Amino acid sequence: MRDSIQIDQLGDHVGERVTLEGWLYNRRSSKRLHFLEVRDGSGIVQCVVGRDDVPPPIFEAAGELAQECSIRLTGKVSEDPRSKLGVEIHVDGVELISAAVDYPITPKDHGVAFLLEHRHLWLRSRRPHAVLRIRSEVQQAIHDYFHGLGFIRLDTPILTPSACEGTTTLFETDYFDEKAYLTQSGQLYAEAGAMAFGKVYTFGPTFRAEKSKTRRHLMEFWMIEPEVAFQDHDGNIELAEGLICACVERALERCRPELELLERDLSALEQIQRPFPRISYTDAIQRLATEGIEVKHGEDFGADEETALAKAFDRPLVVDRYPASLKPFYMKADPDDPSVALNMDILAPEGYGEIIGGSVREESLEVLDRQIREKGVEAETLEWYRDLRRYGSVPHAGFGLGLERTLAWICGLHHLREAIPFPRLMGRLHP
Ligand code: 4AD
Ligand code: MG
Repeated sequence: MRDSIQIDQLGDHVGERVTLEGWLYNRRSSKRLHFLEVRDGSGIVQCVVGRDDVPPPIFEAAGELAQECSIRLTGKVSEDPRSKLGVEIHVDGVELISAAVDYPITPKDHGVAFLLEHRHLWLRSRRPHAVLRIRSEVQQAIHDYFHGLGFIRLDTPILTPSACEGTTTLFETDYFDEKAYLTQSGQLYAEAGAMAFGKVYTFGPTFRAEKSKTRRHLMEFWMIEPEVAFQDHDGNIELAEGLICACVERALERCRPELELLERDLSALEQIQRPFPRISYTDAIQRLATEGIEVKHGEDFGADEETALAKAFDRPLVVDRYPASLKPFYMKADPDDPSVALNMDILAPEGYGEIIGGSVREESLEVLDRQIREKGVEAETLEWYRDLRRYGSVPHAGFGLGLERTLAWICGLHHLREAIPFPRLMGRLHP
């Protein structure tokens, strides 16, 4: 058992002598004093080694400790109003656990390519640390949100025989002489889950071979996909609004220091409340036209259009009823206008683009089959999915929230690559 104290708990031990275990984040030395900044994952604390407080060999050794060596030290916890933690350590003993020779990430500025090359070490720095802590809190907020609403978490397969979101972005692999693909979305399986449990959500990695190098695309990203039996279009949007608010609220509630370190404008996040503004695809085209951006009816929006649309609002923007021709085979058409799908995209403010895509699903086997034929989708591997319409089909709806897009927005990151521990980008598989 560890008998050292975690740095974030030091405030409860003022006046006591404690043991700390961690890594040397930074060191400043003078003739009489060494200031060791020590991190242990829970925080960073300043530890002061005075020449008169430790035996000379220990003082000398402390002056040779290198960045990121691992150490164990003992000392007294003292109040220090200047430090963020409110405490510092007056050291009486230091022990080197393991050396670190020429740690590559120094306090000077490094280029992004270099940092990505060293992502396995970069994780130790303040900025990635803040982002990934927020990621962890937001993930937990998502679980809490669905759990609170009585959803079952359903884990869907990663190796799949069929495409969910079109064949152009599939990663193909060999499955004992059968073709398999890394999943693009857990949705089709979540639909089976909704028929079994009523309300389910998936939380897992999804894969898209996006042959484009944009700041909004990863090859491997995490998606959260609720699917709900007897859900309609409005209910689907409300569930999505609640989810986004739950993520933002949690970040504001538990991650203020991290958001501040990232220099995030907190007032922009504090404005995120339901209901979100809603416009249709057709309204969106008109809005864009008044800004001099021409989009022909039937064309999809790209990053520029999404940014222009969202700019007018200080909350996420719901855009619904896109042309059915743009959308996958499983979406239900709007009964009032079958040329459009009962779908919705939610665009984050401040130019972060689409963070949610979802729809009502077509529940009739006959119509589904027609859409499968019209879209030229391979029906062979979808026999099981068609069963869901054969045996007690009901109206249902769901959506997918992209975790990294959501985090990039909440954290104010320029690029999605910072929102995931080990990004998979076009041309980057290492480390
Ligand atoms: O809009 P998408 O493609 O929707 C689906 O996959 C549906 N089957 C979801 C559902 O209804 N259950 O993807 C959903 C979200 C997007 O809004 C975006 O946030 C994220 O997934 N996403 C990506 N994130 C990072 N990199 C990529 N290449 C992404 N592609 C989609
Ligand atoms: Mg989409």
